[in-house]
Amino acid sequence: MKQISHLDNIPSTPGKFKMDKSPYNRLRWHSSLAKLTFWSFIFLALIFIFFFRSPSSSTPQALSDPSRRYLQNYSWGGAAWEKRVRSSARIRSRNGMSVLVTGAAGFVGTHVSAALKRRGDGVLGLDNFNDYYDPSLKRARQALLERAGVFIVEADINDEALLKKLFEVVAFTHVMHLAAQAGVRYAMENPSSYVHSNIAGLVNLLEVCKSANPQPAIVWASSSSVYGLNTKVPFSEKDRTDQPASLYAATKKAGEEIAHTYNHIYGLSLTGLRFFTVYGPWGRPDMAYFFFTRDILKGKSISIFEAANHGTVARDFTYIDDIVRGCLAALDTAEKSTGSGGKKKGPAQLRVYNLGNTSPVPVSDLVSILERLLKVKAKRNILRLPRNGDVQYTHANISSAQRELGYKPTTDLQAGLKKFVRWYLRFYADGKKSGV
Ligand SMILES: NC(=O)c1ccc[n+]([C@@H]2O[C@H](COP(=O)([O-])OP(=O)(O)OC[C@H]3O[C@@H](n4cnc5c(N)ncnc54)[C@H](O)[C@@H]3O)[C@@H](O)[C@H]2O)c1
Repeated sequence: MKQISHLDNIPSTPGKFKMDKSPYNRLRWHSSLAKLTFWSFIFLALIFIFFFRSPSSSTPQALSDPSRRYLQNYSWGGAAWEKRVRSSARIRSRNGMSVLVTGAAGFVGTHVSAALKRRGDGVLGLDNFNDYYDPSLKRARQALLERAGVFIVEADINDEALLKKLFEVVAFTHVMHLAAQAGVRYAMENPSSYVHSNIAGLVNLLEVCKSANPQPAIVWASSSSVYGLNTKVPFSEKDRTDQPASLYAATKKAGEEIAHTYNHIYGLSLTGLRFFTVYGPWGRPDMAYFFFTRDILKGKSISIFEAANHGTVARDFTYIDDIVRGCLAALDTAEKSTGSGGKKKGPAQLRVYNLGNTSPVPVSDLVSILERLLKVKAKRNILRLPRNGDVQYTHANISSAQRELGYKPTTDLQAGLKKFVRWYLRFYADGKKSGV
């Protein structure tokens, strides 16, 4: 008996079908047709699902591109959503501004959003609520802002369609860009998250801003970490910033160069603010003052770093209210962007300022202040400063910000930590979150 092999199905003349008339082959033909119908149905069903899940301007939206690993499926859009966006961004004071605040559920973003809202500016927040640190703290900040009338759109700054939609709904006069992957040491664990938020996200935001009509003025958070291995103190804006000590610092430095480019080519008004170790109520759990407080209260030992030859590690700790005043002053003095239709029409403002406290405090003194405020002795574990991104010393020269923004920090570390500890104890009462 002849073996039926797969070779029997190959047409004898390439490019042509061999007509087969046997009943056996007719049966096979019917079964192929059934298979074809089945797979066509599956294919059409997949197309149908794809189109109903794709963003459009009038239906609730969801992102569904798996190649964009960090983008999650946030839903947005629709008449009710647009109404919330408009209402949150509505200006309620004479000469007020409408500000898109990215990173609004973050530490600085929450304080800046609340302060803008209090004085009658329109504020719309945007945040992806990532889990770099406890997202429930971000949700609590969101609830706080919600009560103040600030809506936070849950989205990623890399979502171009969403950003364009926001600019369609609101003609933002300003963007306060605070969304970023923060933290110096985490950059060794998850480097791509820094590229995603601090570089790709910044470029995406600037792309949308440059095409917006009118273009907004942008104030954004750089960092004191750009001074890196610079040893000349206090750090002045004119000092070299080409020796970053961490990937985080390198992405912030890259951000400053990217800002220069968008200012130069498209006429975007851009102000970068180099914050120096910001602390205060609603702060960030990954920062030393915050986790020292937690660990001292739990009776756990805390690691305090010292440099070579018992050198002091010190930080120019800056209280959040001082930073907020600096941010608002930067927004208030920002000139308009000059471009339109994606084209530059004239030179635009480009600025960089240090926002620090100008009085560095050794980290061991920070611990002593916390011990007094918490009435608990810390178990100190002194370690050599590892080479993982932290620098020995930061100290801001703030004369430019003083002169041009009227920036003048007023809170010393003792007074600021007192407010932080009061908040901390209330928020985490009895070892669990107390709500807000
Ligand atoms: N706190 C400081 O001491 C300090 C010092 C120097 C610079 N900075 C900079 O200031 C800004 C605010 O810092 P913070 O202390 O409030 O940090 P934070 O982490 O509390 O706030 C940043 C917020 O941005 C959000 N975010 C991150 N990536 C995002 C993305 N791709 N899309 C949308 N949202 C995203 C996060 O969810 C977070 O809520 C950051 O740019 C930070 O790098 C802070």
